Amino acid sequence: MTDALHPVAAVLHKIVPMAADNHLFSFLPEQPMALAPGQFVEITLPGIGSFPVSSCDQGRNGLITSCIRRAGRVTEALYHLEEGDVVGLRGPFGVGFPLQLFEDQEALLIAGGLGMAPLRALLHALLDDHRRAGRIIVLYGSRQPEMLLFREELVKLSLEQQIELRFSVDFAEELPSLDGRVVCKIGLVNELLAGLAFTPRKTVAAVCGPPALYHCMLEELALIGIPAAKIFATLERRMRCGVGECCHCVVAGRYICRDGPVFSLEQLRKMTEAI
Ligand SMILES: Cc1cc2nc3c(=O)[nH]c(=O)nc-3n(C[C@H](O)[C@H](O)[C@H](O)COP(=O)(O)OP(=O)(O)OC[C@H]3O[C@@H](n4cnc5c(N)ncnc54)[C@H](O)[C@@H]3O)c2cc1C
Ligand code: FES
Repeated sequence: MTDALHPVAAVLHKIVPMAADNHLFSFLPEQPMALAPGQFVEITLPGIGSFPVSSCDQGRNGLITSCIRRAGRVTEALYHLEEGDVVGLRGPFGVGFPLQLFEDQEALLIAGGLGMAPLRALLHALLDDHRRAGRIIVLYGSRQPEMLLFREELVKLSLEQQIELRFSVDFAEELPSLDGRVVCKIGLVNELLAGLAFTPRKTVAAVCGPPALYHCMLEELALIGIPAAKIFATLERRMRCGVGECCHCVVAGRYICRDGPVFSLEQLRKMTEAI
C-alpha cells in the first residue's frame, strides 16, 4: 500500500464510454497498487476534490480500471479530463470480498445498476481461479437495456457456459435480442430469483447496488436458506481519509472505509441503519 494519506500520481490512461454518464476510466499509478475485489481507492483531482471508487477488474498491466458515474462536482470534473492527464490515487483501502469462502461453493452474484462494476472484479477473480466457485450465477438488473454495463462481455461468458446469466430491466420498448440461453425479464432484479435452482446452504452470495436492492434482497436470500455469514453486500458512504481516522464514514460503531465496505448480512444485522 502507498502512503495512505498522500496520493501518488497516476496517468489517466484510457477513457471508454459505456453508457450515458457511465465511462470506464483506466489509471496507471506511478507505484503499483493491487486492489482485491471490493476494495477501493480515493481518486484526487488537484484543486477540486476526491472521491472513493472501486475497481471493476483484476488490475492487469498495473492499471486500475473503474466504471465511474458522472454523479456530481468531482466526477463531473473527471469527465472533463483527457487521456494523458494526471490525477492522484490513494489506496487500496478497506476489506473486499472473502474469496476463500467461494471455494467449492455456488457463487450467486446479484447486481443492480452500477453495482455490476465491483462485482465484475469479483467475477473475474472467480473465473481466474478454477478452485473457486463450482458454479457462478449472475443476476443483473438495470433501468433500461442500454444501461446494462458489460452486457456483451456477460453474454459472451454465458454463451461459453462459464456463468449462468439472467438480466432484468425496469422497462424496455424492445427487449435486447440475446441468445436463447440468456434470460432477460422486465421487472426488478429480485424477481430473477424465482425458479432459480441452486443449493442455498452451499451458496455464497454477493450483492451490490442501490439501497433499495439491499432492502428487498438480503433478508430474502437468508429466508431462502443461504447462511447470513455467506451473504455479502458492499456499502457506500461519503468518505475522507479512507483509513479509519476521520470518523466520516462511521455507521453503528463500524468504519465503512476500514472494516468494510464489504460486510456480511450477519454483521449488517448488528449495524442499525447501515442499509
Ligand atoms: C467504497 C465505495 C466505492 C464506490 N465505487 C464507485 C464506483 O465503482 N463507481 C462510481 O461511479 N461510484 C462509486 N462510488 C460512489 C462515488 O464515490 C460517488 O459517486 C462520488 O463520491 C461522487 O462524487 P461527486 O463529487 O462527483 O458528487 P457529489 O456532488 O459529492 O454528490 C453527488 C450525489 O452522490 C451522492 N454521493 C456522493 N458521494 C457518495 C458516497 N460516497 N456514497 C453515497 N452517495 C454519495 C451525493 O449525496 C449526491 O446525491 C463508490 C463509493 C464508495 C464509498
Ligand atoms: S473515511 Fe475517514 S474514518 Fe472512514
